[in-house]
Amino acid sequence: MTKFFIYPVFFVCITITTKAQKKTIDQKVDSVLRLMTLDEKIGQMNQYNGPWAATGPLTGNDDIVTQIKQGKVGSMLNVTGVARTKELQQLAMQTRLKIPLLFGQDIIHGHRTIFPIPLGEAASWDLKAIELSARIAATEASAAGVHWTFAPMVDIGRDPRWGRVMEGAGEDPYLGSAIATARVKGFQGKGFGNIDALMACAKHFAAYGAAVGGRDYNSVDMSLRQLHEVYLPPFKAALDAGAATFMNSFNDLNGIPATGNSYLQRDILKGQWKFKGFVVSDWGSVGEMINHGFSKDNKEAAMQAANAGSDMDMESRSYLPHLAQLIKEGKVKMVVIDDAVKRILKKKFEMGLFDDPFKFSDEAREKAQWNNTTHLEVSKDMAKKSIVLLKNEKQILPLSKQTKKIALIGPLVKSIKDHLGFWSYDWDDDTARIPSLYDAIQTKLGGNSNLLYSKGCNIIDTSKAGFAEAVATAQQSDIVIMYVGEHRAMSGEAKSKSNIQLPGVQEELIKAIHATGKPVVVIIGAGRPLIFNWTANNVPAIVYSWWLGTKGAEAIADVLFADYNPSGKLPMTFPRTEGQIPVYYNYYKTGRPAANDSDVNYVSAYIDLPNSPQYVFGYGLSYTSFNYSEIELSKTSLKGNQTLTASVTVSNTGNYDGEEVVQLYLRDMVASVVRPVKELKGFQKIKLSKGERRKVSFTITPEELKFYNTDLKYSWEAGDFQVMIGGSSTDVKTGKVSWVK
Ligand code: GLC
Repeated sequence: MTKFFIYPVFFVCITITTKAQKKTIDQKVDSVLRLMTLDEKIGQMNQYNGPWAATGPLTGNDDIVTQIKQGKVGSMLNVTGVARTKELQQLAMQTRLKIPLLFGQDIIHGHRTIFPIPLGEAASWDLKAIELSARIAATEASAAGVHWTFAPMVDIGRDPRWGRVMEGAGEDPYLGSAIATARVKGFQGKGFGNIDALMACAKHFAAYGAAVGGRDYNSVDMSLRQLHEVYLPPFKAALDAGAATFMNSFNDLNGIPATGNSYLQRDILKGQWKFKGFVVSDWGSVGEMINHGFSKDNKEAAMQAANAGSDMDMESRSYLPHLAQLIKEGKVKMVVIDDAVKRILKKKFEMGLFDDPFKFSDEAREKAQWNNTTHLEVSKDMAKKSIVLLKNEKQILPLSKQTKKIALIGPLVKSIKDHLGFWSYDWDDDTARIPSLYDAIQTKLGGNSNLLYSKGCNIIDTSKAGFAEAVATAQQSDIVIMYVGEHRAMSGEAKSKSNIQLPGVQEELIKAIHATGKPVVVIIGAGRPLIFNWTANNVPAIVYSWWLGTKGAEAIADVLFADYNPSGKLPMTFPRTEGQIPVYYNYYKTGRPAANDSDVNYVSAYIDLPNSPQYVFGYGLSYTSFNYSEIELSKTSLKGNQTLTASVTVSNTGNYDGEEVVQLYLRDMVASVVRPVKELKGFQKIKLSKGERRKVSFTITPEELKFYNTDLKYSWEAGDFQVMIGGSSTDVKTGKVSWVK
């Protein structure tokens, strides 16, 4: 295709007159800004959804085509593919200034090749693999005409009732920050201007995951100390990694909706943190400030959002009709509009869209990325690393490939699309490309084994009509593999649940199969921590597989039959009941800490529940076993900016080569504010052959001791500290040090 377009005269002038001294992007932005009318500027702050798919409640039915040609649209979302993006970009080239459109989309865990859901990837604790996952997603999306992904979602999630925990990296600020960094680097690659760069978007700013009751879009109220200590660090990490954009969140924070919250967007993000990118609202969140009772109408909402730092209005249609009048009335200053527009134009220049608006519109490149077998292999590798082995009594797992009769039972055994999880795209040929678990095991075992199958029950209804057949199937087998859990769309946006037990009658099916006396392995597919206490207490082998993407079933089969030794560790605590939520590992001790799980004698505990969760943060088993030596400390008394080295020797004492996530936790014993019983401050994922041992060391400086005090000062205080290293947040070796200023 011949790429040519008539540059407006002034672009040609700039090119000729400034050949000698290349204008900086800021100078080019200023040149364009000077030419723009107020309406054209406001147009850049307006984003519409494409007419093909919606990821939120559609409010308007504007003639988008006409408005693009009139320069009233700066960006579009949910426009997929070179053909469609090119079609709309050609309309933008008909405007007076030919300012190109930005195309954004939720490329959350893959585009054509679907990777594990982000919470699953987080369970891998493998930052290089996570970065590569994002890099591949960017390669495929940028080849499909997309410039910008609304990811990574970096919201800390401590409440599994909130369906969007599937989209993040779990409950911990340190792990969440490391993963935010990896994902931003993965998406943006070698930087804007590269043909496979994809602008990242750190979302949802901020504290969206702390919604009261785990109910999506609900209010958030917390101390600024907790906001800074727990919820902001992954956003700061994303910004430090160069995130191009931020997206604000739907929730109100301490009474002010994030979209109209200048403390968040002006004081912190653009002020203290000096963010130079732009902020896009979440879908309709500008106009939704009316529902919040914070704006009386769309005009006031536009004023509040623009003044608070929301640079682009996604789908609420508040900026376009009202900002010009607000300028006339002096309620929004021109400097606010110019700042927002400059931020948006700068990204368009950096992406190379002014030089070539069709830079990402290459059909051949799109086709070449469409069935990239390397990408599929990488996604399968990521999937294997994301699987968490929760239980393996009597080493039932791994199974022998010579097992004669295997019963596959459960509503997910023959499922296909569920492997994709939420925030994934349905392609017409998915059923051909995505194996079910049944397919994957059949392919792996070939004719060696006789696979028996019964569905047993559905995911959510209460019919037990299939139980009898399932029991009979189990009785004919040597071993039973059950695959139960959620549907892919049961965890995700607007999927909060008050009951996160294994849905329907699935646990009753497990009981019925268990009663046959056959050895049972249970695999659970879900987008969030679920509650399955009876299974946890009675079934000998349990594998948590999240949603693992296009080749997820093959990854599960690899784990079941020893072609991969599971290495995942939980990025979120698993509660025993909903009543225990919120429950997380880095809690405060309280004045009456329970001495153990059964202590209820005037202590902080439930009288009807053990104090501990079902599974703790950082927990996950392997087919092999790892032994930790006592902790070795380079010093036990330190002063000022000295450095401490803490080490353990980890030995693979089992019969399989394996990977272990060695975790470092610190505890500040006494401080001017109460401090968590432990905080993750480092981790290393190591590979050890069977019989191999290795010394693993962590370097600790006062930086790792810092926290926010009551004045929001980020600093450390002298005192005693516990240093803990282990294979989970509770299975640790502990040492003590004192550190003076
Ligand atoms: C949705 C989500 C947000 C997403 C946006 C565009 O409502 O909250 O995460 O990026 O709309 O799809």
